[in-house]
Amino acid sequence: MLERSHLADNALQALHDEDYDVPFNTQSLNHDGLVFMGGRSVTGLDGDWTFCVDLLDTGLRQKWFAMLPEAPEDRAEPWDYDPYMGETVPVPSNWAMLKEKWYFFEGSAWYTRPLDLDDVDETKRQFLRFGAAAYDCKIFLNGEFIGNHYGASTPFCVELTGKLKNGRNWIMACVNNTRTRDRVPMRNTDWFNYGGLYREASYFETPKSLIRDFFLYLVPDGTYSSLRAEVTVDGARSGSAIVSIPELGVDAEIVLDTEGRGTADISARPDLWSPETPVLYDVSVSCGEDGITDRVGFRQIERRGTEILLNGVPLFLRGISVHEDDAVLGKVTSEADLRRRFEHASELGCNYLRLAHYPHHERAAEIADELGFLLWEEIPVYWAIDFENPATYRDADNQLKELIKRDRNRASVIIWSVGNENPDTDARLTFMKGLAETCKALDPSRLTSAACLVNHAQNRIEDRLAAHIDIIGLNEYFGWYEENFEDLAAIGENSNPDRPVVISETGADGVIGEKGPERGLFSEAYMAEVYVRQIATLRALGYIKGMSPWILYDFRVERRQNIFQNGYNHKGLIAADKKTKKKAFHILADYYREIAARDVEARKAS
Ligand code: GCU
Repeated sequence: MLERSHLADNALQALHDEDYDVPFNTQSLNHDGLVFMGGRSVTGLDGDWTFCVDLLDTGLRQKWFAMLPEAPEDRAEPWDYDPYMGETVPVPSNWAMLKEKWYFFEGSAWYTRPLDLDDVDETKRQFLRFGAAAYDCKIFLNGEFIGNHYGASTPFCVELTGKLKNGRNWIMACVNNTRTRDRVPMRNTDWFNYGGLYREASYFETPKSLIRDFFLYLVPDGTYSSLRAEVTVDGARSGSAIVSIPELGVDAEIVLDTEGRGTADISARPDLWSPETPVLYDVSVSCGEDGITDRVGFRQIERRGTEILLNGVPLFLRGISVHEDDAVLGKVTSEADLRRRFEHASELGCNYLRLAHYPHHERAAEIADELGFLLWEEIPVYWAIDFENPATYRDADNQLKELIKRDRNRASVIIWSVGNENPDTDARLTFMKGLAETCKALDPSRLTSAACLVNHAQNRIEDRLAAHIDIIGLNEYFGWYEENFEDLAAIGENSNPDRPVVISETGADGVIGEKGPERGLFSEAYMAEVYVRQIATLRALGYIKGMSPWILYDFRVERRQNIFQNGYNHKGLIAADKKTKKKAFHILADYYREIAARDVEARKAS
């Protein structure tokens, strides 16, 4: 409960203790605490929260979270922030997008709101869920520290059972987006360091025994006749769960072990999910008083030699990379923003998107399931990472597990990527090989990859991590960062990969209209020329089974400040207005139309 916060008692401690944050850096809110959300009713906590930036962490030092909501005139002590009144911001949002004074703010910021409960049901369990908080989030309830989450783009749940009171409770979140050496990503990224509670916040209850996790997939054995259901029930010491898929006549029992876990193989022959036939089945799971639902598609993705096969048919991934970035919303994605993204991808002729460089909003994979797009999902093990640091590995491993548990029932997700453009060192190899193994341990139904770099010393595709991932993602920028274009063809001939290669990035900046030069670097004309030459070279390399050029839309980034960039990366095929298409858009669309027609003919012939 709230004890009176004696600022005076704490005043000198608050000035002299530089380990003030240690008790709150617990990373105690992690993938183990996730609750499966399909079908649960929740109380939304979006809307205005009281807000204050706190660059010097005065809040943790002075323990703002322990202050009582007294009327200002009754206070005996001078507060430096008033959690209960003052400036407010909408949740979800990124503070950078709300006020000029917060654009480049990096540090802690406090969010506070009341949670009014008439009658806390003691036969139930109570939770908060945050879709994402960038980057480090410390949660307080009624003056008590509850837990800490690391990671800017994955959901986390906060159990409040036994700590809530009837009437007004106070929730506080201290969110810190400071870039540090031990983070994932580290300090240097080519995307804007948005901070804040930027995805939905909610409150929900469950029975004492609750379904924490549920995974349902087509057993990838080529028979297309067996589904595997895995369930974890927290609070059950035996018994069973029932999985129902009415359209398949399935009502299957999963017997639980003493840990509340169970697995069952279920005979069924579902219509297979694919971009052309995005069939989804209504699924429900019940166990005791708890029940959850989901809509699941069944498909098999595999690689054979350098081929990628979907449901046994070879596939070329006609893709595009996307960031979560909006001129107005920042990293907040709305339903409309997501659906516009898929509409543009469809106009481009895509069957595939690379959701770079971090887990996107969960609605992205849900919509891709409905519309029929294949997805590469990724954790932000990006560029330099403190690969020797066990705490950094724990952070990356947790973000990966939170992503996989959140999205592994999504048929559209076919690839888990464990990173992007990392140096080929021993420490990095150990670190990322471990992450790739975690993908397979948690999910045998998908392929693994990472966006690797060309080995310029050998002038070929070569990266020690390649032996530990199913698909070699390759970022190459011939025509932009690498000037001699001829090397790309040479790399093609010098390389003989034993698994599929997907060009995970290629492209060039092109600034449209009068803001850009007529010709040369940063002109739209030169960008178009790079696409023409890239396509002409890549189409000749048989082991390339897909591409996701960089990138669908121009996006905001601090490090791009020349006279053409103005704080934006202009490699988008569409400008930041998410309307104006550049010449290169049509060049790529023509190529994808040709590839799609070729694949239709190949399927007919097979
Ligand atoms: C890199 C990186 C991207 C970056 C891009 C660029 O390959 O993966 O995050 O934005 O190149 O330089 O535009």
